[in-house]
Amino acid sequence: MRAAQVSKLEGPEAIEVVEIAEPAAYPGGVVIDVHAAGVAFPDVLMTRGLYQMKPELPFVVGGEVAGIVREAPEGAQVAAGDRVVALTLLGNALAEVAVVPSQMVFRLPDNVSLQAGAGILFNDLTVHFCLRNRGRLAAGETVLVHGAAGGVGTSTLRMAVALGAGRVVAVVSTEEKAAVARANGATDVVLTDGWLAAVKELTGGRGVDIVLDPVGGDRFTDSIRSLAPAGRLLVVGFTAGEIPTVKVNRLLLKNVEVIGAAWGEWVMTHPGYLTEQWEEVEPLLAAGKIAPPEPVLYPLDRAAEAVASLDNRTAAGKVVVTLR
Ligand SMILES: NC(=O)c1ccc[n+]([C@@H]2O[C@H](COP(=O)([O-])OP(=O)(O)OC[C@H]3O[C@@H](n4cnc5c(N)ncnc54)[C@H](OP(=O)(O)O)[C@@H]3O)[C@@H](O)[C@H]2O)c1
Repeated sequence: MRAAQVSKLEGPEAIEVVEIAEPAAYPGGVVIDVHAAGVAFPDVLMTRGLYQMKPELPFVVGGEVAGIVREAPEGAQVAAGDRVVALTLLGNALAEVAVVPSQMVFRLPDNVSLQAGAGILFNDLTVHFCLRNRGRLAAGETVLVHGAAGGVGTSTLRMAVALGAGRVVAVVSTEEKAAVARANGATDVVLTDGWLAAVKELTGGRGVDIVLDPVGGDRFTDSIRSLAPAGRLLVVGFTAGEIPTVKVNRLLLKNVEVIGAAWGEWVMTHPGYLTEQWEEVEPLLAAGKIAPPEPVLYPLDRAAEAVASLDNRTAAGKVVVTLR
């Protein structure tokens, strides 16, 4: 089969498309003919050996797939011929065939294409975990998301209102990304430059209830300043590179919280949680209450470019690689 492989830790440009053996089936594993695979920021970090997970070289990149089941074990919730999405968490996705533990494979609603499906699980379930579980989103609250035209960002824009938010504010670095944010459902969009003042003005000085922050870096203190009383700042990632620190007197003085939100870690330590999440998210997708992603597509031959677009900050929306 063809696959996008990393054989040296020299960044996304070193990803090569190679011919390798199909992965072996194993008991409890679902064999999937992969049609499309999602790309996310951890893939960038893994191409440099900078992510917490460090697979042995060479490895296949990507953490999620959409495709058709070729073979499923008895008792699995999917069967041969089903259209499915699956988490390979992490690696082994950008390849023509994947074998995935059956508890990580879910049937895709008919109204969602395989290409869009490849962009759902990793980000949507992260955002669901962040807003529901860690952020305790209450009906009508205002959510702000940084890096709003990215994978986690567009997912937040697509999902927040369906999960109860009254308003969802996008922070983006360029006008092009502002258009992506609007297309994904942002109720308000502000540019990174001067974002705090713009958000204060938008909210009549009150601030926002939840900040979902996949970016970190030097805007972190301003994120705390942007919170309304009893607001929550969700620490999701550090695409800006720098891991911020917080002076806890700011939390005391404003009655606000900074909360860590590591979805993968939660999934690994809470068996059954993924299924619980999908049981809530799938009907919302099937009913059109959450719009499917509109991914930026790259063919497998351009996998290196697809991953590099997250690294060089040019990606406008969720990035998906097509394999069939
Ligand atoms: N905690 C969890 O459970 C969890 C789960 C999934 C992902 N994550 C993390 O969430 C973060 C976002 O992932 P993603 O897949 O959404 O990434 P993405 O699609 O690349 O989006 C990230 C956004 O970050 C912004 N950004 C600011 N400075 C940047 C820089 N120096 N380089 C690149 N981007 C920069 C960009 O928006 P602007 O240009 O508009 O600023 C970009 O759109 C990553 O750190 C990832 O590891 C965490």
